[in-house]
Amino acid sequence: MNALLIANWKMHYGPIKAGGWVRAFRRERLPKDVDIAVAVPHVSLAAARASLGRASIPSLAAQDVFWDKDGSFTGEVSASMLDEFGVQYCLVGHSERRTYLNETSEMVAKKAAALQEAGIVPVICVGETAAEYKKKETNKILRQQTTAAIAKLNPDSKTAFVFAYEPIWAIGSGKPCPSQRAREAHEVIRGVIAKKMGETVAAKVRILYGGSVDSNNITEYITTTGIDGALVGGASLDPRVFGLLCRTAVPS
Ligand code: 13P
Repeated sequence: MNALLIANWKMHYGPIKAGGWVRAFRRERLPKDVDIAVAVPHVSLAAARASLGRASIPSLAAQDVFWDKDGSFTGEVSASMLDEFGVQYCLVGHSERRTYLNETSEMVAKKAAALQEAGIVPVICVGETAAEYKKKETNKILRQQTTAAIAKLNPDSKTAFVFAYEPIWAIGSGKPCPSQRAREAHEVIRGVIAKKMGETVAAKVRILYGGSVDSNNITEYITTTGIDGALVGGASLDPRVFGLLCRTAVPS
């Protein structure tokens, strides 16, 4: 199983800058045995795709989706629309969406299922707040969020799903979660998947760590058992910095 590294630009880079980022990143020397994707704003998908041309590295990812196929949902974008851009992965339930847009676990479950049905790999984000971390409620929160998110997924589907453990207090804070703590969190997530969908399915799910990952700490995460890659925010905005991070993660 290749490690998976996903750049999450969040609300950065419209079409003009997106094209430039992709062209610059394509000039980076990149390791082979790793999967790399870039999650861009919807409005930048066309430009990113055009700059990629037929190249498949990095894969294209979206940052959100709506669960219905089409209809009267002003402002929303469906999985089949994302598919038209050759999107391979799509984030769902990022904590910023849960916090600022009141996205519920029920919505996250519907989005993940819609993506799987369209053949796009959902990257389901889960994680606890600083207050929950202090109260030692992390495992409880992860069990709740994971159980809810996989409720509508089909364990027999050919389309995989991915989890990203992102403790909210570690996002953009420069205070990454200690790798052993992340390892425990990943075990909790994988445990829930195993209980609900079986050990075989759980063993194949890639669980990424996200939260202040950079080229200085990526090695620590990627070499920790049960951590299968990273979801990277700030350190992905500069294509050369993200290129270095990819090379550091998987030295050739
Ligand atoms: P940072 O890497 O900037 O902490 O962001 C993490 C994140 O939220 C990625 O989805």
